[in-house]
Amino acid sequence: MNVQAAAEPHTPTPTAAPAHLRRLVLTGFMGAGKTTIGRLLAQRLGWDFLDLDAYIETRTGLSVPGIFATHGEPRFRQLESAALASALGRSSVVLALGGGTPEVLTNRLLLEQTPATSTIFLDAPCPTLFDRCMMQALNPGTTDRPNLADPAVAEARFLARQPIYRRLARLTLSTDSLTADETVDALLSGLNRSPAPRN
Ligand code: S3P
Repeated sequence: MNVQAAAEPHTPTPTAAPAHLRRLVLTGFMGAGKTTIGRLLAQRLGWDFLDLDAYIETRTGLSVPGIFATHGEPRFRQLESAALASALGRSSVVLALGGGTPEVLTNRLLLEQTPATSTIFLDAPCPTLFDRCMMQALNPGTTDRPNLADPAVAEARFLARQPIYRRLARLTLSTDSLTADETVDALLSGLNRSPAPRN
């Protein structure tokens, strides 16, 4: 079940995830804030945080843009699926996916079939996401995003992925007008309000 959530001003924000959950997974397009929100959420819960792109880089010893440039996107997707399967073996973990992770059927099945796991979609309009990515790219040390190189192709990917993100998620959050802290509040409130999933 996919529930739209927003922070409710008079309800105290829960500080824990629902007791049946062991893994929270953040999904959304590039620039959605998966890593920033994921880190903050993990801190709030006292859980570990794992960024899937960083995990791929640790496992392979290669950078994400390096994998795209040298081996191509299909190889990157294979490495990403293997890293996802490994990451989902952990408990008490907040996992930030890459923007393209849910495009792959294997990955969606892994996410849907891992018990005690809920996926949250961080949604924002395309221009907001592009602006955030452009701002991030100005920071030294930011990893390049090969799939943003052609804006028209990136926009087509954004449109194609929206229904995939939405279907996969137990909770969808519009992050456009929320700070990172407000997003974490809305996420925890929404999760604690929505019914327990089947798995
Ligand atoms: C990608 C998103 C990136 C990274 C890779 C491909 C995509 O992750 O996995 O560059 O296809 O959307 P972020 O969403 O964390 O930028």
